[in-house]
Amino acid sequence: MRDFIPVCEPLLAGNELKYITEAVSSGWISSSGKYVAAFEEAFAAYCGARYGVAVCNGTVALHLMLVAAGIGKGDEVILPTFTMAASAFAVCYTGAMPVFVDADKDTWNIDVNKIEEKITSKTKAIMPVHIFGNPCNMSVIQEIAKKHKLLILDDAAEAHGAEYMGIKTGMLADLTSFSFFANKNLTTGEGGMVVTNNTDYYNKLRYFKNVCFPLDAPRVYQHADIGFNYRMSNIHAAIGLAQVEKADYYKDLRIKNALLYKKYLTGIDGTQFQADEKNGLNVHWMNSILLEPSVIGKSKEQVIDYLKSNGIETRLLFTGMHKQESLRKYGCDCSGSYKVCETLTKNGFYLPSGSNLTEEEIAYICKKIKEAGNC
Ligand SMILES: Cc1ncc(COP(=O)(O)O)c(C=O)c1O
Repeated sequence: MRDFIPVCEPLLAGNELKYITEAVSSGWISSSGKYVAAFEEAFAAYCGARYGVAVCNGTVALHLMLVAAGIGKGDEVILPTFTMAASAFAVCYTGAMPVFVDADKDTWNIDVNKIEEKITSKTKAIMPVHIFGNPCNMSVIQEIAKKHKLLILDDAAEAHGAEYMGIKTGMLADLTSFSFFANKNLTTGEGGMVVTNNTDYYNKLRYFKNVCFPLDAPRVYQHADIGFNYRMSNIHAAIGLAQVEKADYYKDLRIKNALLYKKYLTGIDGTQFQADEKNGLNVHWMNSILLEPSVIGKSKEQVIDYLKSNGIETRLLFTGMHKQESLRKYGCDCSGSYKVCETLTKNGFYLPSGSNLTEEEIAYICKKIKEAGNC
């Protein structure tokens, strides 16, 4: 067993090195190499979708998705307050206004019962975020979107291969954005992708990603719109293709981790795990735990310190978007009550969750959590 168990690290267990070597030795290291298209096709096919557009990280994937959907100044986009800041920041990049909804106390995803009260005449889209790999209740979100004629722009940064009613992320929304950061279930180091079935969106994604060079005309350096350079390099895509080839293997390892944590920690009073969404397949990007200090008899910080002194790394959970000074300054409405999110922030933390954890390590982590809380 390792002396130090990191909170997460990538597992590169397939053709990654072979494909990178090929990319480097061919000289195709920019976005023009063959691996970019191959990765886009392979990942879109994995999701069951027609198109994928690879970009250089998950944050710009979100921005590009919003741009392709036509979101801009004067629009509102509804998203969970319990998410990573990139979800809300990407909305701000377009000039639109993020509008927050509290989390569900069990699944920790957006509380679908609180979405409709946030809809106004300016609302253009709902951005579900599948927190820690747990798919949102998409039936209700799809119903609300249909009733109010809203787009669904999915942030699936943490949820590659997650399913709702047997349908994978990438196929549950008008457009879906993914991150391939090094800690994700599938990684390219840094990277992202937007997936869609819609040809019009697909063309817009390609156009805006590449500084608005015309798609089907000679390059005469005339740009009709202001675009972005969000291109992914061939080297990153080479890693991505190798990862997709083993996507189900990587996914199963993360699911196995979650089952082991439950096996070794279930029934401990004062601890709570994220509940899987009914009808969903949670791919458990990160295993997190909530501790109730009054039951455990120790504060979260004391438990984290004890784990650290035993070589176990942890991370805090997100602070809600309604608590972000940056978003308040931008003009977001941060008033209102977001009690579930605040409890998650206060009492929760990530446990080590990398794909290469062993059962012995998980058993050890759980033993140390019990020791820390004397339970
Ligand atoms: C929910 C969510 N959205 C967006 C992102 C941004 O992705 P990236 O770090 O690749 O920019 C992340 C990153 O972890 C995330 O968790």
